[in-house]
Amino acid sequence: MYQAVHFHPADLDLSSSRFLVTGGAGFIGSHIVEYLLQHGAALVRVVDNLSEGSLENLAHLKGYSALEFCEGDCSDAAFMAKMMDGIDYVSHQAALGSVPRSIKLPLATNQANVTGFLTVLNAAREANVKRMVFASSSSVYGDHPQLPKKEELTGNLLSPYAVSKKVNEMYAEVFHRIYGMEVCGLRYFNIFGPRQKTDGPYAAVIPLFIDAIRADKPVYINGDGLQTRDFTYVENAVQANIRALTCARETAMGRVYNIAVGERVTVLRMYEMLCEQAGVKPQAVHRDEREGDIRDSLADTSAAATNLGYNPGVKMNEGLERTFNWFLKS
Ligand SMILES: NC(=O)c1ccc[n+]([C@@H]2O[C@H](COP(=O)([O-])OP(=O)(O)OC[C@H]3O[C@@H](n4cnc5c(N)ncnc54)[C@H](O)[C@@H]3O)[C@@H](O)[C@H]2O)c1
Repeated sequence: MYQAVHFHPADLDLSSSRFLVTGGAGFIGSHIVEYLLQHGAALVRVVDNLSEGSLENLAHLKGYSALEFCEGDCSDAAFMAKMMDGIDYVSHQAALGSVPRSIKLPLATNQANVTGFLTVLNAAREANVKRMVFASSSSVYGDHPQLPKKEELTGNLLSPYAVSKKVNEMYAEVFHRIYGMEVCGLRYFNIFGPRQKTDGPYAAVIPLFIDAIRADKPVYINGDGLQTRDFTYVENAVQANIRALTCARETAMGRVYNIAVGERVTVLRMYEMLCEQAGVKPQAVHRDEREGDIRDSLADTSAAATNLGYNPGVKMNEGLERTFNWFLKS
Protein backbone atom coordinates (compact mmCIF):
# COMPACT_ATOMS: atom_id res chain seq x y z
CA MET A 1 0.00 0.00 0.00
CA TYR A 2 2.87 2.41 0.69
CA GLN A 3 5.44 1.47 -1.98
CA ALA A 4 4.53 4.27 -4.37
CA VAL A 5 3.32 7.04 -2.07
CA HIS A 6 4.06 10.57 -3.30
CA PHE A 7 5.55 11.69 -0.01
CA HIS A 8 8.37 9.16 0.26
CA PRO A 9 11.57 11.18 -0.26
CA ALA A 10 13.78 9.52 -2.87
CA ASP A 11 16.86 10.08 -0.71
CA LEU A 12 15.39 8.72 2.53
CA ASP A 13 17.37 5.62 3.49
CA LEU A 14 15.92 3.71 6.45
CA SER A 15 18.17 0.67 6.10
CA SER A 16 20.15 1.47 9.23
CA SER A 17 17.28 2.93 11.28
CA ARG A 18 15.49 0.96 13.99
CA PHE A 19 11.97 1.92 14.98
CA LEU A 20 9.67 1.15 17.87
CA VAL A 21 5.95 1.56 17.10
CA THR A 22 3.71 1.31 20.17
CA GLY A 23 0.12 0.42 19.39
CA GLY A 24 1.44 -1.01 16.13
CA ALA A 25 -1.21 -3.75 16.06
CA GLY A 26 -3.91 -1.07 16.02
CA PHE A 27 -5.38 0.90 13.15
CA ILE A 28 -2.98 3.83 12.62
CA GLY A 29 0.04 2.07 14.10
CA SER A 30 -0.25 -0.84 11.67
CA HIS A 31 -0.15 1.60 8.73
CA ILE A 32 3.03 3.22 10.09
CA VAL A 33 4.57 -0.24 10.50
CA GLU A 34 3.60 -1.11 6.94
CA TYR A 35 5.22 2.03 5.51
CA LEU A 36 8.45 1.46 7.49
CA LEU A 37 8.76 -2.16 6.41
CA GLN A 38 7.98 -1.39 2.78
CA HIS A 39 10.71 1.25 2.78
CA GLY A 40 13.42 -0.97 4.16
CA ALA A 41 13.71 -0.07 7.87
CA ALA A 42 16.35 -2.16 9.62
CA LEU A 43 14.00 -3.05 12.49
CA VAL A 44 10.34 -2.32 13.21
CA ARG A 45 9.55 -3.45 16.74
CA VAL A 46 5.85 -3.36 17.60
CA VAL A 47 4.69 -3.13 21.20
CA ASP A 48 0.99 -3.72 21.77
CA ASN A 49 -1.05 -5.26 24.58
CA LEU A 50 -3.71 -6.33 22.05
CA SER A 51 -6.44 -4.77 24.18
CA GLU A 52 -7.87 -3.10 21.08
CA GLY A 53 -5.52 -4.06 18.29
CA SER A 54 -5.09 -7.42 16.62
CA LEU A 55 -2.31 -9.48 15.06
CA GLU A 56 -4.54 -9.70 12.00
CA ASN A 57 -3.64 -6.06 11.31
CA LEU A 58 -0.03 -7.18 10.80
CA ALA A 59 -0.69 -10.57 9.19
CA HIS A 60 0.01 -9.28 5.67
CA LEU A 61 3.48 -8.10 6.83
CA LYS A 62 4.72 -11.29 8.44
CA GLY A 63 7.08 -11.99 5.51
CA TYR A 64 9.28 -9.04 6.56
CA SER A 65 12.21 -10.22 8.69
CA ALA A 66 12.59 -6.68 10.11
CA LEU A 67 9.20 -6.99 11.88
CA GLU A 68 9.34 -7.93 15.56
CA PHE A 69 6.15 -8.16 17.61
CA CYS A 70 6.32 -7.88 21.41
CA GLU A 71 3.14 -8.23 23.40
CA GLY A 72 3.16 -6.06 26.52
CA ASP A 73 1.86 -2.97 28.20
CA CYS A 74 3.26 0.51 27.70
CA SER A 75 2.78 1.35 31.37
CA ASP A 76 5.17 -1.46 32.41
CA ALA A 77 8.44 0.43 32.99
CA ALA A 78 10.75 -2.62 33.08
CA PHE A 79 9.23 -4.00 29.88
CA MET A 80 9.45 -0.64 28.10
CA ALA A 81 13.11 -0.24 29.14
CA LYS A 82 13.84 -3.56 27.39
CA MET A 83 11.81 -2.53 24.36
CA MET A 84 14.03 0.54 23.85
CA ASP A 85 17.13 -1.59 23.44
CA GLY A 86 18.81 -0.62 20.14
CA ILE A 87 15.97 1.70 19.09
CA ASP A 88 16.66 4.96 17.19
CA TYR A 89 13.12 6.30 16.72
CA VAL A 90 9.86 5.87 18.62
CA SER A 91 6.39 6.35 17.18
CA HIS A 92 3.97 6.21 20.12
CA GLN A 93 0.44 5.34 18.99
CA ALA A 94 -0.73 3.15 21.88
CA ALA A 95 -3.68 4.58 23.80
CA LEU A 96 -7.29 3.90 24.61
CA GLY A 97 -9.15 5.99 22.06
CA SER A 98 -12.74 7.25 22.18
CA VAL A 99 -14.27 10.15 24.09
CA PRO A 100 -17.31 8.12 25.30
CA ARG A 101 -15.07 5.34 26.64
CA SER A 102 -13.06 7.87 28.61
CA ILE A 103 -16.26 9.29 30.14
CA LYS A 104 -17.24 5.75 31.18
CA LEU A 105 -13.74 4.58 32.11
CA PRO A 106 -11.60 7.55 33.18
CA LEU A 107 -9.17 5.47 35.26
CA ALA A 108 -8.45 2.95 32.49
CA THR A 109 -8.01 5.84 30.06
CA ASN A 110 -5.57 7.55 32.39
CA GLN A 111 -3.59 4.35 32.96
CA ALA A 112 -3.12 3.66 29.24
CA ASN A 113 -2.91 7.22 27.96
CA VAL A 114 -1.10 9.09 30.72
CA THR A 115 0.88 6.49 32.69
CA GLY A 116 1.55 4.57 29.45
CA PHE A 117 2.69 7.71 27.68
CA LEU A 118 4.97 8.89 30.48
CA THR A 119 6.48 5.42 30.81
CA VAL A 120 7.31 5.32 27.09
CA LEU A 121 8.60 8.89 27.09
CA ASN A 122 10.86 8.27 30.07
CA ALA A 123 12.14 4.95 28.73
CA ALA A 124 12.93 6.67 25.41
CA ARG A 125 14.81 9.41 27.26
CA GLU A 126 16.80 6.94 29.36
CA ALA A 127 17.70 4.97 26.24
CA ASN A 128 18.79 8.17 24.46
CA VAL A 129 16.67 7.50 21.40
CA LYS A 130 17.12 10.03 18.62
CA ARG A 131 13.49 11.13 18.46
CA MET A 132 9.97 10.30 19.61
CA VAL A 133 6.75 11.29 17.85
CA PHE A 134 3.38 10.67 19.51
CA ALA A 135 -0.32 10.71 18.73
CA SER A 136 -2.27 13.57 20.24
CA SER A 137 -5.79 14.55 19.28
CA SER A 138 -7.96 17.42 18.08
CA SER A 139 -10.01 16.81 21.26
CA VAL A 140 -7.54 19.10 23.08
CA TYR A 141 -9.27 22.07 21.38
CA GLY A 142 -12.28 21.42 23.63
CA ASP A 143 -14.86 24.18 23.43
CA HIS A 144 -12.66 26.81 21.80
CA PRO A 145 -14.83 28.23 19.00
CA GLN A 146 -12.20 29.44 16.55
CA LEU A 147 -12.05 27.80 13.12
CA PRO A 148 -9.74 26.75 11.67
CA LYS A 149 -8.04 25.40 14.78
CA LYS A 150 -4.55 26.80 15.38
CA GLU A 151 -2.26 24.90 17.72
CA GLU A 152 -1.91 27.64 20.33
CA LEU A 153 -5.64 28.35 20.87
CA THR A 154 -7.29 25.67 22.99
CA GLY A 155 -10.43 25.89 25.14
CA ASN A 156 -11.92 24.04 28.09
CA LEU A 157 -11.40 20.30 27.81
CA LEU A 158 -14.59 18.26 27.40
CA SER A 159 -13.57 14.69 28.31
CA PRO A 160 -11.03 12.61 30.25
CA TYR A 161 -9.64 11.52 26.86
CA ALA A 162 -8.90 15.15 25.97
CA VAL A 163 -7.24 15.61 29.37
CA SER A 164 -5.02 12.58 28.74
CA LYS A 165 -3.85 13.93 25.39
CA LYS A 166 -3.27 17.42 26.79
CA VAL A 167 -1.17 15.92 29.60
CA ASN A 168 0.89 14.03 26.97
CA GLU A 169 1.59 17.31 25.22
CA MET A 170 2.60 19.01 28.47
CA TYR A 171 4.97 16.20 29.46
CA ALA A 172 6.53 16.20 26.00
CA GLU A 173 7.08 19.96 26.08
CA VAL A 174 8.73 19.73 29.51
CA PHE A 175 10.93 16.76 28.49
CA HIS A 176 12.02 18.78 25.47
CA ARG A 177 12.76 21.81 27.63
CA ILE A 178 14.56 20.20 30.55
CA TYR A 179 16.21 17.17 28.92
CA GLY A 180 16.57 18.53 25.39
CA MET A 181 14.65 15.50 24.13
CA GLU A 182 13.59 15.55 20.47
CA VAL A 183 9.88 14.88 20.78
CA CYS A 184 6.79 16.20 19.03
CA GLY A 185 3.06 15.53 19.07
CA LEU A 186 0.65 15.14 16.20
CA ARG A 187 -2.91 16.26 16.82
CA TYR A 188 -4.90 13.91 14.61
CA PHE A 189 -8.31 15.03 13.35
CA ASN A 190 -10.72 12.07 12.80
CA ILE A 191 -8.46 9.60 11.02
CA PHE A 192 -10.15 6.91 8.92
CA GLY A 193 -9.14 4.13 6.56
CA PRO A 194 -8.62 0.40 6.10
CA ARG A 195 -8.32 -1.74 9.26
CA GLN A 196 -10.21 0.69 11.48
CA LYS A 197 -12.48 -1.27 13.79
CA THR A 198 -16.14 -1.50 12.77
CA ASP A 199 -17.36 -3.32 15.88
CA GLY A 200 -17.55 -2.67 19.59
CA PRO A 201 -19.18 0.14 21.50
CA TYR A 202 -16.43 2.66 20.76
CA ALA A 203 -16.04 2.26 16.99
CA ALA A 204 -15.50 5.49 15.04
CA VAL A 205 -18.18 7.02 12.87
CA ILE A 206 -16.91 6.18 9.34
CA PRO A 207 -16.36 2.42 9.88
CA LEU A 208 -19.69 2.27 11.76
CA PHE A 209 -21.49 3.89 8.83
CA ILE A 210 -19.72 1.67 6.28
CA ASP A 211 -20.71 -1.41 8.23
CA ALA A 212 -24.34 -0.33 8.41
CA ILE A 213 -24.51 0.71 4.75
CA ARG A 214 -23.00 -2.60 3.61
CA ALA A 215 -25.57 -4.51 5.64
CA ASP A 216 -28.37 -2.16 4.53
CA LYS A 217 -29.12 -1.41 8.18
CA PRO A 218 -30.13 2.00 9.60
CA VAL A 219 -27.33 4.48 10.10
CA TYR A 220 -27.45 6.22 13.50
CA ILE A 221 -26.50 9.89 13.43
CA ASN A 222 -25.78 11.69 16.70
CA GLY A 223 -27.74 14.95 16.90
CA ASP A 224 -28.72 16.81 13.74
CA GLY A 225 -25.73 15.56 11.74
CA LEU A 226 -24.67 19.11 10.95
CA GLN A 227 -21.61 18.91 13.19
CA THR A 228 -18.49 19.21 11.07
CA ARG A 229 -15.25 17.26 11.01
CA ASP A 230 -11.95 17.41 9.17
CA PHE A 231 -12.01 13.73 8.21
CA THR A 232 -8.47 12.59 7.39
CA TYR A 233 -7.41 9.51 5.44
CA VAL A 234 -4.86 7.40 7.31
CA GLU A 235 -2.14 7.74 4.65
CA ASN A 236 -1.91 11.43 5.60
CA ALA A 237 -1.33 10.46 9.25
CA VAL A 238 1.41 8.06 8.16
CA GLN A 239 3.02 10.82 6.14
CA ALA A 240 2.95 13.13 9.17
CA ASN A 241 4.63 10.52 11.35
CA ILE A 242 7.36 9.80 8.82
CA ARG A 243 8.04 13.46 8.18
CA ALA A 244 8.17 14.22 11.91
CA LEU A 245 10.43 11.24 12.63
CA THR A 246 12.86 11.98 9.82
CA CYS A 247 12.83 15.75 9.24
CA ALA A 248 16.25 17.28 9.61
CA ARG A 249 15.07 20.42 11.46
CA GLU A 250 15.65 19.95 15.16
CA THR A 251 13.80 23.24 15.72
CA ALA A 252 10.63 21.52 14.54
CA MET A 253 10.61 19.49 17.75
CA GLY A 254 9.24 20.38 21.21
CA ARG A 255 5.77 21.29 19.97
CA VAL A 256 2.56 19.88 18.52
CA TYR A 257 1.11 19.93 15.00
CA ASN A 258 -2.39 19.67 13.57
CA ILE A 259 -2.65 16.69 11.25
CA ALA A 260 -5.68 16.80 8.98
CA VAL A 261 -6.59 17.71 5.41
CA GLY A 262 -8.11 21.14 5.98
CA GLU A 263 -11.55 20.20 4.57
CA ARG A 264 -14.68 20.60 6.69
CA VAL A 265 -17.57 18.23 6.04
CA THR A 266 -20.79 17.62 8.00
CA VAL A 267 -21.50 14.12 9.29
CA LEU A 268 -24.65 14.12 7.11
CA ARG A 269 -22.63 14.93 3.99
CA MET A 270 -20.13 12.20 4.85
CA TYR A 271 -23.05 9.75 5.13
CA GLU A 272 -24.28 10.84 1.69
CA MET A 273 -20.81 10.46 0.18
CA LEU A 274 -20.63 6.89 1.50
CA CYS A 275 -24.10 6.16 0.13
CA GLU A 276 -22.96 7.45 -3.27
CA GLN A 277 -20.02 4.99 -3.10
CA ALA A 278 -22.31 2.14 -2.13
CA GLY A 279 -25.15 2.92 -4.53
CA VAL A 280 -27.67 2.44 -1.69
CA LYS A 281 -29.10 4.80 0.92
CA PRO A 282 -30.22 3.12 4.12
CA GLN A 283 -32.41 5.04 6.54
CA ALA A 284 -30.62 7.67 8.67
CA VAL A 285 -31.92 7.66 12.26
CA HIS A 286 -31.09 10.68 14.42
CA ARG A 287 -30.41 10.17 18.12
CA ASP A 288 -29.15 12.33 21.00
CA GLU A 289 -25.91 14.26 20.69
CA ARG A 290 -22.96 12.64 22.44
CA GLU A 291 -21.57 14.09 25.62
CA GLY A 292 -18.03 15.40 25.26
CA ASP A 293 -18.21 15.84 21.48
CA ILE A 294 -17.05 19.06 19.91
CA ARG A 295 -19.44 20.76 17.46
CA ASP A 296 -17.15 21.85 14.66
CA SER A 297 -13.67 20.90 13.66
CA LEU A 298 -11.36 22.13 10.96
CA ALA A 299 -7.58 22.26 11.12
CA ASP A 300 -5.07 24.85 10.10
CA THR A 301 -2.22 22.57 9.02
CA SER A 302 0.18 25.33 8.02
CA ALA A 303 2.57 24.72 10.95
CA ALA A 304 3.03 21.06 9.93
CA ALA A 305 3.47 22.16 6.31
CA THR A 306 6.12 24.76 7.15
CA ASN A 307 8.07 22.85 9.80
CA LEU A 308 7.68 19.22 8.74
CA GLY A 309 6.94 19.51 5.01
CA TYR A 310 3.54 17.85 5.60
CA ASN A 311 1.33 17.92 2.51
CA PRO A 312 -1.81 15.78 2.77
CA GLY A 313 -2.07 14.10 -0.61
CA VAL A 314 -5.32 12.19 -0.16
CA LYS A 315 -8.47 14.29 0.05
CA MET A 316 -11.53 13.07 1.88
CA ASN A 317 -13.51 11.81 -1.11
CA GLU A 318 -10.62 9.74 -2.42
CA GLY A 319 -9.95 8.41 1.08
CA LEU A 320 -13.61 7.38 1.47
CA GLU A 321 -13.50 5.59 -1.88
CA ARG A 322 -10.32 3.70 -0.95
CA THR A 323 -11.71 2.84 2.48
CA PHE A 324 -15.06 1.68 1.16
CA ASN A 325 -13.39 -0.51 -1.47
CA TRP A 326 -11.09 -2.02 1.15
CA PHE A 327 -14.00 -2.90 3.42
CA LEU A 328 -15.87 -4.44 0.46
CA LYS A 329 -12.94 -6.78 -0.16
CA SER A 330 -12.26 -7.61 3.50
N1 LIG B 1 -8.32 7.26 14.94
C1 LIG B 1 -8.46 8.55 15.17
O1 LIG B 1 -9.28 9.21 14.53
C2 LIG B 1 -7.61 9.26 16.17
C3 LIG B 1 -7.82 10.63 16.38
C4 LIG B 1 -7.03 11.30 17.31
C5 LIG B 1 -6.05 10.62 17.99
N2 LIG B 1 -5.88 9.29 17.80
C6 LIG B 1 -4.83 8.61 18.55
O2 LIG B 1 -4.03 7.86 17.64
C7 LIG B 1 -3.50 6.71 18.27
C8 LIG B 1 -3.85 5.48 17.46
O3 LIG B 1 -5.27 5.38 17.38
P1 LIG B 1 -6.01 4.24 16.56
O4 LIG B 1 -7.22 4.86 15.97
O5 LIG B 1 -5.05 3.54 15.68
O6 LIG B 1 -6.51 3.29 17.75
P2 LIG B 1 -6.37 1.71 17.93
O7 LIG B 1 -7.18 1.36 19.14
O8 LIG B 1 -6.68 1.01 16.66
O9 LIG B 1 -4.81 1.53 18.25
C9 LIG B 1 -4.28 1.70 19.53
C10 LIG B 1 -3.45 0.47 19.84
O10 LIG B 1 -2.84 0.64 21.12
C11 LIG B 1 -2.93 -0.58 21.84
N3 LIG B 1 -2.86 -0.24 23.26
C12 LIG B 1 -3.78 0.44 24.00
N4 LIG B 1 -3.34 0.59 25.26
C13 LIG B 1 -2.12 0.01 25.32
C14 LIG B 1 -1.17 -0.17 26.34
N5 LIG B 1 -1.39 0.30 27.59
N6 LIG B 1 -0.03 -0.83 26.07
C15 LIG B 1 0.21 -1.31 24.82
N7 LIG B 1 -0.66 -1.18 23.81
C16 LIG B 1 -1.81 -0.53 24.06
C17 LIG B 1 -4.25 -1.21 21.41
O11 LIG B 1 -4.28 -2.61 21.61
C18 LIG B 1 -4.29 -0.82 19.94
O12 LIG B 1 -3.70 -1.81 19.13
C19 LIG B 1 -4.08 6.72 19.69
O13 LIG B 1 -3.14 7.34 20.53
C20 LIG B 1 -5.30 7.58 19.56
O14 LIG B 1 -5.66 8.18 20.80
C21 LIG B 1 -6.63 8.59 16.92
